[in-house]
Amino acid sequence: VTPPPSPAKIRARKGGTPLVCLTAYTTPVAQLVDPHCDIVLVGDSVGMVLHGLPSTLGVTMEMMSLHGRAVARGLKQAMLVVDMPFASYEESPQQAFRNAARLMAETGAAAVKLEGGVHMAETIAFLVARGVPVMAHIGLTPQSFNTLGGYKVQGRGAEADKVLADARAVAEAGAFSVVLEKLPESLSRRITEEVAIPTIGIGASPACDGQILVIDDMLGLFTEFQPKFVKRYAELGAEAEKAIAAYAEEVRARTFPAPEHVFSDEGKGK
Ligand code: KIV
Ligand code: NA
Repeated sequence: VTPPPSPAKIRARKGGTPLVCLTAYTTPVAQLVDPHCDIVLVGDSVGMVLHGLPSTLGVTMEMMSLHGRAVARGLKQAMLVVDMPFASYEESPQQAFRNAARLMAETGAAAVKLEGGVHMAETIAFLVARGVPVMAHIGLTPQSFNTLGGYKVQGRGAEADKVLADARAVAEAGAFSVVLEKLPESLSRRITEEVAIPTIGIGASPACDGQILVIDDMLGLFTEFQPKFVKRYAELGAEAEKAIAAYAEEVRARTFPAPEHVFSDEGKGK
């Protein structure tokens, strides 16, 4: 296996073969996605898809560290990026550095991701200057859904210039890539053409330099709601439901465990 690409290597793939990215939160899923991905993100979406939280606002440093370590154990060739959770970086560049360094040290991640454009540029520059590679995240930034007024498409009409300014600011601040979430195609294309770092889209059209999806969404495991930008590549939730129902029925009918699952008095501990 080839070792994981560095953030600098990822940056150099601007305009090339699209970057393949997925989230993962556990070791077995990390092992499944690793051979196919350039980047595996431990997203703060973990709070919603694995912990039942109503938004990403309740996600803690402890949760990101725990899932980050689990995912790190399952990766061989993909680069690990860990999300900085809400309230772990917004207060000051110093606070951001302290928490980013902690996540990198505890998980072995090559980089962190944080939400925000122009207003986070100073923090991004502060981190990069101190050895913390940063993936930026602009457009729809779920940690700000209260101030954004929901999970709406961003950057339509007159708002476009503001999102473009965010993209320019994070690129200039030294981010090695930027996630574009829920933007109209024309704006994603414009940003991708104008900034020198790879754009990684989620609900941001094929004009981006790469794509990312939440693994539980694309596998049909998280079905509470489904954004338009999610394509379900499998229906594992429905499959699991069938398996669980079959188990329950067989236990009640005493047809499970069957003879092949049962230990006898003889035999060698098998
Ligand atoms: O938390 C997350 O999973 C993310 C990606 C969807 C970009 O931020
Ligand atoms: Na996130």
